Amino acid sequence: MILQWYPGHMTKAKRQMQEDLKLIDLIIELVDARIPLSSRNPDIDEMGKNKSRLILLNKSDLADERYNEKWTEYFQSKGFYVVKVNARSGAGLKGIQGVINQACKEKIERDRRRGIKNRPIRAMVVGIPNVGKSTFINSYAGKACTKTGNKPGVTKGKQWIRLNKTLELLDTPGILWPKFEDQEVGIRLAYIGSIKDEILNVEELSLLLLAYIRDNYPGLLEQRYGISEEGTPLSMLEGIAENRKCLLRGQELDYAKAAGILMEEFRNGKIGRITLEYPPMMEEKNEDDQ
Ligand code: G4P
Repeated sequence: MILQWYPGHMTKAKRQMQEDLKLIDLIIELVDARIPLSSRNPDIDEMGKNKSRLILLNKSDLADERYNEKWTEYFQSKGFYVVKVNARSGAGLKGIQGVINQACKEKIERDRRRGIKNRPIRAMVVGIPNVGKSTFINSYAGKACTKTGNKPGVTKGKQWIRLNKTLELLDTPGILWPKFEDQEVGIRLAYIGSIKDEILNVEELSLLLLAYIRDNYPGLLEQRYGISEEGTPLSMLEGIAENRKCLLRGQELDYAKAAGILMEEFRNGKIGRITLEYPPMMEEKNEDDQ
């Protein structure tokens, strides 16, 4: 058993989010483009069923571009609006406003029919920890925006960031919790660093990751670490330890250190752009092909 996970305090967060959802028109949900399904909690679909929905495929710079496209198509086929972004560099952010207007066209139209003018779209950013919510809010809202402050009676205790005439963002993101009955999902979350390393066995995790990269992205490990991809995952880890001179006293190889290096370099995208899961339709298709 690699993972131990205690979702304990999350009920409170869920209740808070349900309250916040009452105040908004649009849910902007960030997912990690390397694991777009494993990094979302599907409960948000039930919680936000009357809201317009936009999915941001974030950290798209770290994911395989071919699959970024596939995932975009997948979520669109499920009725979401989707924009591929890199919240850290700002790439893709310019395209968001137009898509938001599209996603909220019914609300805009409804307001117009009722003679309501200039009522901004209110949006809330949600996602599991570490998907880039704060980075996104900072770079999208930028420094130019003004905080609208509390509006007593209407949005008690809430801070809204006015981005422009048509859009306001709740300044605190909604934190969803990762969800996994399935250990595979937990392992993918661990790969990207969404579950703390302290609660798992990093060496075991690194062996699984080595096998995945070797099988799905042949050549990348050889290129980065100068190791042969022919052997077992353990022999590859050994190769990394040698290559990076990870030694314990007495010249023994330090596997834990090598595993740590691998995980860090994967998470920073240094090994390459790697997607860790594929859209379900594609998986089924692949099975049919065999
Ligand atoms: P959260 O609020 O959802 O918990 O996530 P947060 O914004 O804190 O982002 C988590 C980490 O992910 C940060 O890195 C952030 O810079 C990085 N990040 C966010 N969006 C992107 C993206 O599109 N691409 C890449 N490559 N990274 C992204 P960190 O290492 O924790 O901090 P720092 O090194 O940026 O200071």
